[in-house]
Amino acid sequence: MESVLVAANWKMYKTTADVQHFFDRWSRDPAPPGREVAFFPPFPLLPLLRSLLPQGQALGAQNAHEADEGAFTGEVSCALLKDLGCDYVLIGHSERRNLFGETDARIAAKMRAAFRHGVRPILCVGEHLDERQGGRTLDVVLGQLAEDLGAAPPPSGFDVAYEPVWAIGTGKVARPQDAAEVHEAILAWLHEHHAGADARILYGGSVKPDSAAALLATPGVRGLLVGGASLDPASFAAILRA
Ligand code: 13P
Repeated sequence: MESVLVAANWKMYKTTADVQHFFDRWSRDPAPPGREVAFFPPFPLLPLLRSLLPQGQALGAQNAHEADEGAFTGEVSCALLKDLGCDYVLIGHSERRNLFGETDARIAAKMRAAFRHGVRPILCVGEHLDERQGGRTLDVVLGQLAEDLGAAPPPSGFDVAYEPVWAIGTGKVARPQDAAEVHEAILAWLHEHHAGADARILYGGSVKPDSAAALLATPGVRGLLVGGASLDPASFAAILRA
């Protein structure tokens, strides 16, 4: 994909009334040329967003189960996400890995499910603070990529979100040079292992209106995955237009 993706991960925030209020204030103007916008609300809000999203703006889910259907209480399949009109699904967000015990094997199975159902996965990778301080950032990130993508060529397009765990929800954004180092390493890894893949690399972790432009100008950064600052329409619009 040629466009830069600016994505809103709403995590476990917002009610139906909040969503109405957000879209009352969200401009119907198309995204700036070369920019794509996507919203990742909690599962039950997906149909409401589908009905409110302006033309051309994309919808995604924050997680999915790897099976197509079955006795998995509380889970949601990629088949249903496709049915609900999802374009994207986040796979392996650090909150899923760290708070819900998702392993790389599980994440790899979820990637395969997303491909099977034609929902473009955004694979989230990133190191913890002690791993960065120990000089292990690239080993961790490239190790996650290898395990989560596997050796077989991905059957269709996907994206990777580099989200350093120490930057998520902390207000500590990665310096552009640190993001550049990791993005370039991911690009080189993809070139070596899956040359020609249709893949963009997004940065996520405390992106705010005042840091978005520098991050988007960083080599290798082809989009942003925004948490807290995407909850307010004015601040998310400022990031989209940065
Ligand atoms: P924050 O922007 O709130 O740090 O969240 C980042 C994130 O986890 C996006 O997926």
